[in-house]
Amino acid sequence: MTSQTLREARKYEEASEKMIKQEERPDFHLSVRTGWMNDPNGFSYYNGQYHLFYQYNPYAPRWDSMHWGHAVTKDFLHWDYLPAALAPDEAYDRDGCFSGSALTLPDGRQLLMYTGVLRERKENGEHCDTQTQCLAVGDGVDYEKCAGNPVLEKNDIPEGSSVHDFRDPKMWQAEDGTYCCVVGNRPADGSGQILLYTSPDGFQWKFKSVLAANNNRFGKMWECPDFFRLDGKWVLLTSPQDMLPEGFEYHNGNGTLCLIGEYDEETGKFTEQHNQAIDYGIDFYAPQTVLTPDGRRVMIGWMQNWDACSLRSPEEKWFGQMSLPRELFLKGGRLYQRPVRELDEMRRNKVEYHNVTFSDVISLNGIRGRKVDMELTLRPAEGEKLYQKFALRFAQDEKYQTAVSFRPRESVLKVDRKFSGSRRAIIHQRRSLVNSTNGELKLRVILDRFSVEVFVNDGEQVMTATMYTDQSADGISFFADGTVNMDVVKYDLVSEG
Ligand code: FRU
Repeated sequence: MTSQTLREARKYEEASEKMIKQEERPDFHLSVRTGWMNDPNGFSYYNGQYHLFYQYNPYAPRWDSMHWGHAVTKDFLHWDYLPAALAPDEAYDRDGCFSGSALTLPDGRQLLMYTGVLRERKENGEHCDTQTQCLAVGDGVDYEKCAGNPVLEKNDIPEGSSVHDFRDPKMWQAEDGTYCCVVGNRPADGSGQILLYTSPDGFQWKFKSVLAANNNRFGKMWECPDFFRLDGKWVLLTSPQDMLPEGFEYHNGNGTLCLIGEYDEETGKFTEQHNQAIDYGIDFYAPQTVLTPDGRRVMIGWMQNWDACSLRSPEEKWFGQMSLPRELFLKGGRLYQRPVRELDEMRRNKVEYHNVTFSDVISLNGIRGRKVDMELTLRPAEGEKLYQKFALRFAQDEKYQTAVSFRPRESVLKVDRKFSGSRRAIIHQRRSLVNSTNGELKLRVILDRFSVEVFVNDGEQVMTATMYTDQSADGISFFADGTVNMDVVKYDLVSEG
């Protein structure tokens, strides 16, 4: 039965989404239906389409009173909104339905697991959250919370671990049919750990092991875990809070972490062999993956940085968009990402230039726009010495620009939105150390009105940033200090229907 709280949210979102024009949103990236969006939740394939839920406050473009918003897509690019799926309407979740996941039950129903938050206000004005894991079952539109909720609570965590930081369950079904789920938690040492639970049926859950412990290496609390097999290894994704940078890795404070290694299913222990950031730009957090029917592991993240939320004015009608869904694979022991191949279907109006040699600012006929897919190959011009710097500038007019620049001597790629029109002194730049010999570099740059995603060297790294520059700033130009030789292949990205 739909509660009054959920009915109100559904009524509100239906009426207020009409106030947002299509052109005021990203085109093929999912943005919030109305109000505020953070983490992707319940990314799943169910009844012939992909479902994506998200952390949602329909009533204002700021974080509050977490609901689950809901959208579906067949191709990861054209999204349809469905009515809000969950509202904080029970005694055990009245202060929020936090992040979680989804899977399909043998009887064809969809199972959601999420974190229920209960906030106790103390007499001295302080408050304290208790987080538990809860279930809801539904048909792809309407969901009923289970009578046995919460299904995981304080008695189900290791001694000394915190019930205040116990959240974001991600479920999957193991090859032997057992249901498994990983949950982020804070142990007694104050850092993060990932707990593993198993269940014969998706409803009765039992603690199995501490899958991985942070031991204060990567930040503090580990949020939003995901765990899956990929190309012969096991991959643990998590979003640690309060990370310290290490060289060029982990510059985002609340950032993303990918651990690649082995998993012993008997003991429920993960052994790490490699670690790296998932995204090296500014705006990417709390990603979640889905396995497609054709065997691809596709990841989507919240295209935002918690510390840079004031980039968008509080008067805007919507806040929050998701990244482009990305196919994951391993190569040379690293995590690689590339835009979902469905994006190729949106490419129109090919414009290409080969062997363009330049040593100042140039623009090229036919290359402009804010919904663009562009492949660049850089190298020093023949017979010339190594260039000092290359820059691609976009979302550009006389006043504004965002730039991706490369210094081959240091092998540093930088994204910079300082001049994108923001009046806030927040994070505007991020640098990444990339693989390049002799000034050669490959970039694929995807623009969608309010964002840029840069895929470096066929997916070896990705740098993501949002920018809210007026759409009329649609210029693109190229700059070289020294002499650069470049190939460019550019498409407009056009969604029909
Ligand atoms: C991560 C997060 C999650 C939590 C959700 C609340 O961005 O803090 O850990 O479930 O957001 O909205």
